Formats: sequence, C-alpha cells, structure tokens
Amino acid sequence: MWTTAPDLAPVRESYTTGRSIQWTKVYELPEYVYFNHSIHIHKGIGCTTCHGRVDRMPLTWQDPPLTMAWCLDCHKNPEQYVRPRSEVFSMSYSPPTNQLKLGTQLVQEYQIERRTSCTVCHR
Ligand code: HEC
Ligand code: HEC
Ligand code: HEC
Repeated sequence: MWTTAPDLAPVRESYTTGRSIQWTKVYELPEYVYFNHSIHIHKGIGCTTCHGRVDRMPLTWQDPPLTMAWCLDCHKNPEQYVRPRSEVFSMSYSPPTNQLKLGTQLVQEYQIERRTSCTVCHR
C-alpha cells in the first residue's frame, strides 16, 4: 500500500518512446525470483492484467500481489488472461464475454506453454 502516490510520468513516456524505464522501485520481487517483461508482452499479456489501470492511477492503482500463487495461477491457466497482441498496451481493454474461447485460440496461436516448473522462476 502507498502512503504517497507514485509518479507515473516515466511509464507514460515509455509507452510513447518505447525506451526502457528509469523508475523508483514500487514493485519488487525477491532476488531469487526471475522475471522479465518481454516474454509476457510478446505472448499477449497486457500491462493492465498485472498493473491495473495505470492511466487512472494513482486513484485506482492496483498493485499485483507478486506472490508465487498469483504468478502460477496465470502460468497454469493462461487462457483466462491472454489478449490479442495488438491490445497489450491498451489501458481500456476488457476481456470479452467469450474470453475462454478467445484465450484458448490465442494460447495455440501464440504457442503459449504452461510454465509451472520451479526452474522457470527460480534459477
Ligand atoms: C505478467 C505480469 C506483468 C505484465 C504483463 C507487465 N508487468 Fe510490469 N512488472 C511486473 C512485475 C512482476 C514487476 C516487478 C519486477 C521486479 O521486481 O523485478 C513489474 C515492474 C514494472 C515496472 C517497474 C516498477 C517498479 O517499481 O520498479 C514498470 C514501470 C512496469 N512493470 C511497467 C509495465 C508496462 C508498461 C507493461 C506493459 C507493456 C507491463 N509492465 C506489463 C509484472 C508485469
Ligand atoms: C497474467 C498471466 C501471467 C502472470 C500473472 C505471470 N506470468 Fe509469467 N508468463 C506468462 C506467459 C503467457 C508466459 C509465456 C509462456 C511460454 O509460452 O513460454 C510466461 C513466461 C514466464 C517466464 C519464462 C521467461 C523465459 O524467458 O523463459 C518467467 C520466468 C515468468 N513468466 C515469470 C513470472 C513471474 C515471476 C510472475 C509473477 C511475479 C509471472 N511470470 C506472472 C504469463 C503470466
Ligand atoms: C511462475 C513463477 C514461479 C514458479 C514457477 C515457482 N515460483 Fe516459487 N516463487 C515465485 C515468487 C514470485 C516468489 C516470491 C513471492 C512469494 O513468496 O510468494 C516465490 C517464492 C518461493 C519460495 C519462498 C517462499 C517463502 O515463503 O519464503 C519458495 C521456497 C519457492 N518459491 C519454491 C518454489 C518451488 C519448489 C517451485 C516449483 C514447485 C516454485 N517455487 C515455482 C514464483 C514462482
């Protein structure tokens, strides 16, 4: 939970320029957990799925819990979350009512694997 609102300018700047972000850490995984953004974005996981509506922050900032269970829920069931790649950066995208059908198609199309083995995240 925040006591002060995070400054979001760097996130917006990164959207428009595509340059990586200099940012005061607000999300932080333990050292022993490996994470990288690019595979998630490449496989159709939207920013808002993990970060909430950053365009409406700070009022509605949602922080992901960053727990192992949260990571694994999606790694086991990616069809519940995947969206078309063209929508990855969209802030207003909401899943369609037939998400499971669309998600199942996209899991095939993007060749998403269910990556649940320990060494995926702990190397
Ligand atoms: C699969 C979930 C996921 C997706 C999708 C995702 N992020 Fe992240 N993001 C994270 C996690 C987890 C961290 C913390 C990483 C760490 O501690 O090493 C993070 C960290 C960040 C940070 C740094 C925040 C800080 O305080 O250090 C920024 C900025 C960010 N993400 C922006 C984005 C943007 C922009 C997108 C969409 C293009 C995006 N993220 C998509 C999970 C995600
Ligand atoms: C909403 C869905 C979602 C969430 C949440 C999520 N992931 Fe993923 N993650 C994926 C998908 C999809 C892939 C791609 C799987 C594949 O096809 O290889 C992936 C791949 C990965 C990979 C493999 C990267 C590589 O280069 O081999 C790592 C590591 C990873 N995720 C770590 C994490 C961690 C750590 C978290 C929690 C902090 C997390 N993920 C949360 C969907 C998610
Ligand atoms: C998709 C990513 C992912 C996978 C796969 C994964 N972990 Fe984790 N693990 C995390 C994250 C993120 C944390 C740190 C947050 C937390 O403690 O919930 C963590 C934390 C841990 C911790 C420390 C927990 C604590 O209470 O201090 C242990 C031990 C652990 N994992 C073991 C495992 C084992 C064993 C497996 C395989 C069965 C596994 N993990 C698979 C992401 C993952």
